[in-house]
Amino acid sequence: MKVSGKCKEIRVFCAQPSGRSLILLTLLALPSMMLGFVGARASTNQTPPNIIPNLHPYSDPSGEIQTFTTAGFIDETNPFFQDLGTNGRRCVTCHQPSDAWTVTPSHNQERFENTQGTDPIFRPVDGATCPMDDVSTVEARREAYKLLLSKGLIRIGIQVPSFADFIVTNVDNPYGCNDTNALSMYRRPLPSTNLKFLSTVMFDGREFPVLGEPKPFTEAEINAALHQQAIDATEGHAQGKRPTDAQLDQIVAFETSLFTAQSRDNEAGPLHVRGATGGPLALSRVNFFLGINDPLGNNPQNVAFTSTISTLYQDWLNISDRDYDEYTEARRSIARGEQIFNNLSITITGVGGLNDIPLQDGKIHSSIQGFCGTCHDTPNVGDHSVPAPLNIGIADATRRTPDMPLFTILCNDGTRVQTTDPGRALVTGKCTDIGKFKGPILRGLAARAPYFHNGMAATLDDVVTFYQQRFNLGLNDKQQRDLVAFLKAL
Ligand code: HEC
Ligand code: HEC
Repeated sequence: MKVSGKCKEIRVFCAQPSGRSLILLTLLALPSMMLGFVGARASTNQTPPNIIPNLHPYSDPSGEIQTFTTAGFIDETNPFFQDLGTNGRRCVTCHQPSDAWTVTPSHNQERFENTQGTDPIFRPVDGATCPMDDVSTVEARREAYKLLLSKGLIRIGIQVPSFADFIVTNVDNPYGCNDTNALSMYRRPLPSTNLKFLSTVMFDGREFPVLGEPKPFTEAEINAALHQQAIDATEGHAQGKRPTDAQLDQIVAFETSLFTAQSRDNEAGPLHVRGATGGPLALSRVNFFLGINDPLGNNPQNVAFTSTISTLYQDWLNISDRDYDEYTEARRSIARGEQIFNNLSITITGVGGLNDIPLQDGKIHSSIQGFCGTCHDTPNVGDHSVPAPLNIGIADATRRTPDMPLFTILCNDGTRVQTTDPGRALVTGKCTDIGKFKGPILRGLAARAPYFHNGMAATLDDVVTFYQQRFNLGLNDKQQRDLVAFLKAL
């Protein structure tokens, strides 16, 4: 494979098809052939420039991930892949197809080593722990960009709203960004895929057309939020000017055409065979509307909530011994994990956004008997189908690691709160929203460790261990392994 300058900058150009995927590539080349790329392909068996074939497989730690696009192929001439700013950043810089459209520490490390830390992701504005960090030498850059290298985190700077019912009295930031008004948080890029299933844009929902209480978006409002997001990303991350309306339309059309999921598991093989419906093609056909399966009465169709969120692997529960092969054990494990995800009863207490707000009966319930799906309610997708900012404790001061900042906040009612990220409170200005975040879409997980907004969980096993402790799940080792196997197959 030729390593071009581009290749160093943007991993997407470096994709090297495996033997198996070459066959797939040829099969999938049909749409591009129709577009007149026949010659190039026939002679070199290479993908035409500026195109990633549909369903191109990328390997990840537990198998392969694929993206299906309703556009037929991924067109790298879309402004999503273009340099629209002043610092060399493009959307794809932080949203890589190989990483389920986010970035991973190991790939960031490769990019760092390949470019001595000059790849466009390494820019002081928000790639560094603080914008004023010394980036004059390789070693200085290794230090400045350490959160990108260790946890894939970007610095998110947000001003405390003037109307907030709290003040920040102290910021203990290990890197020096100690301003108590312009706060610096460190968050994972959310995947810019599967956006058709979003009810909230950004971890804190700040790309919301109107401030205030979350309410169900309309599809048009989500679309407006995605447009605004693309403007803010270009002006912020890429330090550029507002893209043209045509460019914004193209970016949003592009990103909303994408569906990404794990397609192959090293141990269970293909994830869409023998009745299973894993993989991105089936995902693209999943029914969704705002409010679908909401447990708190926001479903416009008034259908009762079901905790059976995932139905992808039901058929693998009953693989008969007659059909036993090298994949069977792993498939059965995934299917058992799905059952746990759907059926495990969880006593939900102390969750801001659930246990402190009146539910359908008008009462506050300090304890709710729920499931994983109480919070991850969108069927076969796993985000919440209406905006649901929740505080499950990821940003709690007690979980702070030395690489995270600590904010001390004084609320108007006299309460003092410490947190590593105020989350939605910086959007609404409400003390009660401190530490609240949206639950991300639970697809394509295996390709995009680490997890949670601050990358606190290095693996999916760590995620489950968090839930075990936080909600006393009581899963035994085998059940935990099954649940992790299931999450990896999403
Ligand atoms: C420097 C890295 C970086 C660049 C460049 C970047 N993003 Fe992001 N993106 C992020 C981070 C970090 C988040 C999550 C921030 C948060 O939630 O507070 C994010 C979130 C998003 C989301 C929200 C997804 C969701 O589930 O809510 C979308 C959509 C998105 N980006 C699209 C884009 C587009 C389009 C561009 C180019 C115009 C772009 N990004 C450029 C880092 C980046
Ligand atoms: C009380 C609500 C709630 C329950 C119950 C819940 N989750 Fe979550 N989940 C969330 C929220 C909120 C986040 C995002 C938190 C953050 O990043 O601060 C999240 C994040 C995650 C993530 C990380 C996704 C990513 O992209 O980083 C995984 C995986 C996950 N949950 C799996 C599960 C599993 C498995 C269960 C059941 C054992 C479960 N969740 C139960 C609310 C919940």
